[in-house]
Amino acid sequence: MLYSEKVMDHFTNPRNVGTMNNADGIGEVGNAKCGDIMKIFLKIDKLDGVDTVTDVKFCTFGCGSAIASSSMATEMIKGKPLSSALELTNKAVVEALDGLPAHKLHCSVLAEEAVKAAVKDYYDKNGIEYDQSKFAMKHDCEHCGE
Ligand code: FES
Repeated sequence: MLYSEKVMDHFTNPRNVGTMNNADGIGEVGNAKCGDIMKIFLKIDKLDGVDTVTDVKFCTFGCGSAIASSSMATEMIKGKPLSSALELTNKAVVEALDGLPAHKLHCSVLAEEAVKAAVKDYYDKNGIEYDQSKFAMKHDCEHCGE
């Protein structure tokens, strides 16, 4: 089968879908080649002095793999310190989904980038300094043939 059970599950029953009023960080990214767009909303609160992702929502206008990747990404960062959300890689998302076909890997890159863009938005809005290199975009994956 082309897609794993987990991909099908997150595609047909995506977690944390929607938008958020008063989000603390919003990230929107798109892939120029396939035209898909992903938006992530973060609610961030200080828990025990640590910036923590207390809620997350996503909205994806894109293919099934993009929806499954964003759903999984939200599950992976919810309740976690913001610093670990920033460390989320598309590779980790793909592994958690039990794999994606090679030509669909770029869809998971979109999820990583959307989370990073939302964290960056939070940092920018709050005047928090950060390491720019952590936000280098991986864009323009040649796998995006759609
Ligand atoms: Fe472009 Fe999936 S995000 S085809």
